[in-house]
Amino acid sequence: MIIAIDGPAASGKGTLARRLADHFGLRHLDTGLTYRAVAAALLANGLPLGDESVAIEIAQNLDLAQMDKSILAAHEIGEAASRIAVLGGLREELVNLQRRFAQTPPGAVLDGRDIGTVVCPDATVKLFVTAAPEARARRRTDEMISNGKDAGYTSVLDDLKRRDERDSQRTVAPMKQADDAVLLDTTEMDIESAFQAAVDIVSRAKGV
Ligand code: DC
Repeated sequence: MIIAIDGPAASGKGTLARRLADHFGLRHLDTGLTYRAVAAALLANGLPLGDESVAIEIAQNLDLAQMDKSILAAHEIGEAASRIAVLGGLREELVNLQRRFAQTPPGAVLDGRDIGTVVCPDATVKLFVTAAPEARARRRTDEMISNGKDAGYTSVLDDLKRRDERDSQRTVAPMKQADDAVLLDTTEMDIESAFQAAVDIVSRAKGV
């Protein structure tokens, strides 16, 4: 079984993906981390973000088990990841890695921007998780404050909108709801009700 979850930044898709994986006994891959890991390696070595051949080489040597979410969560790494995500050859390399992960038994939950459309078009079930930009910015701001970081709601909102624009307007594999994906709008939901709604959608698709 493969569960594909796509959606914009701070929609809650990551938390949902992790909890669904636990619930259904599947492995989980946050594919955003693969883009972030490549971006972080380029930044750490002072290499230009547009150098696709180096980016591909880094991707070929990527060890999924070594990706450290706490380090890769940094805001500037997210920005850089969104920039390198327009490189078609790099995407091809990362997509291969993500597909191998998805196809390893017992199956997996993958979250990202192009899982239902490109990475796993034959997934058992596809969810497109979204929420109004203002709700996402509020959640992201609260999360940053609780981690002791200075966060201004307005700049968080501007950043999210800019990132949505770049991720949904790029030519290669733009963020997009797959035709057969179920839309889950979490604007008015807390995480518990969003999780229950997601479990219901997956259970229905599995025929349980
Ligand atoms: O989900 P995230 O914020 O960790 O993703 C960081 C960037 O990586 C995102 O802005 C676009 C890119 N990305 C992508 O292009 N395709 C994916 N499947 C996942 C992430």
